[in-house]
Amino acid sequence: MQKRTLGKNGLEVSAIGLGCMGMSFGYGPASDKREMTALIRQAVERGVTFFDTAEVYGPFTNEELVGEALAPFKGKVSIATKFGFRIENGKQAGTDSRPEHIRQVAEASLKRLKVEVIDLLYQHRVDPKVPIEDVAGTVKDLIREGKVKYFGLSEAGVQTIRRAHAVQPVTTVQNEYSLWWRQPEGELLPALEELGIGLVTFSPLGRGFLAGRFDANSQFGSSDIRSTLPRFTPEALQANQALTALVGEFAKRKGTTPARIALAWLLARKPWIVPIPGTRKLERLEENLGTAELELGPEDILAIDSAVAKITLLGGRYPEEVEKTTGL
Ligand SMILES: NC(=O)c1ccc[n+]([C@@H]2O[C@H](COP(=O)([O-])OP(=O)(O)OC[C@H]3O[C@@H](n4cnc5c(N)ncnc54)[C@H](OP(=O)(O)O)[C@@H]3O)[C@@H](O)[C@H]2O)c1
Repeated sequence: MQKRTLGKNGLEVSAIGLGCMGMSFGYGPASDKREMTALIRQAVERGVTFFDTAEVYGPFTNEELVGEALAPFKGKVSIATKFGFRIENGKQAGTDSRPEHIRQVAEASLKRLKVEVIDLLYQHRVDPKVPIEDVAGTVKDLIREGKVKYFGLSEAGVQTIRRAHAVQPVTTVQNEYSLWWRQPEGELLPALEELGIGLVTFSPLGRGFLAGRFDANSQFGSSDIRSTLPRFTPEALQANQALTALVGEFAKRKGTTPARIALAWLLARKPWIVPIPGTRKLERLEENLGTAELELGPEDILAIDSAVAKITLLGGRYPEEVEKTTGL
């Protein structure tokens, strides 16, 4: 597996990481812990050195799973986790990036992840009540104390990133970015390029949509976040088939799969982009990791981009009130 470098201070990770959220949270009931432990270890065997989790996934259970699964590989892989929510009665209850809370969460994450240092610590969502300088300053202190190696922000706007970066260099930003969510191309990508900050792209497969898995008849249970997302209503899934058809067409032409086209498109955009697709299945993990061998040339990217530009997608990626909290 090829490696990529995130940020200017030398975080080197596999070109494709593994998003672990869906193993415990977000896409239906949690999967069997033993099976997921085996899957995470199979990812390591296949060259993945970058794993993504967060305090709020579960909450807590996903960090525990990742910590246990990766315990035998301490020092050989990088684990990214996130703070930034208040958790009440086992549920996310608004943002909380007060310095004392960041410290408490970092200590608890260290224990759950079974590590002495958190490789990459993100603020999960910008907290409108806490100046970003205070957040960056707290993470800076944690880095000085040897409890954290690298600092990241998730779904932060460009001004916030600049302000944070001035206090503590940001190694990577984690945002949604894919063939069906291209907003980062406006302001974010140029700013990251200018500042030398990496981009980790979450939901790079459009939560499975870009792999061609869903249509108007797809059903999502109440513990599946997709049941609440405007882009997963039957109308949106129907209308947006134009995009899956296009990706499917390119895949056929290249002798590969739609998921690999979606991931290769991201890898081709910038050498400092690292997608972190999530899966609970070995065959999909292997499919996704196989993307590293598929190279899309400039003419492929141009062809995909100009075809995608003709498609108008229906439905927001998040409900409006949630979108407002992203800080973009
Ligand atoms: N910072 C943030 O706010 C934020 C938000 C969302 C996610 N994340 C992180 O980003 C990671 C990835 O994002 P994501 O899981 O939301 O979305 P994703 O990677 O775009 O899609 C995951 C979905 O696609 C399916 N899938 C994966 N590979 C496939 C393939 N080759 N063919 C068909 N279906 C496939 C998975 O199903 P199966 O599991 O059944 O295989 C799962 O339902 C998460 O695990 C999490 O760590 C961060």
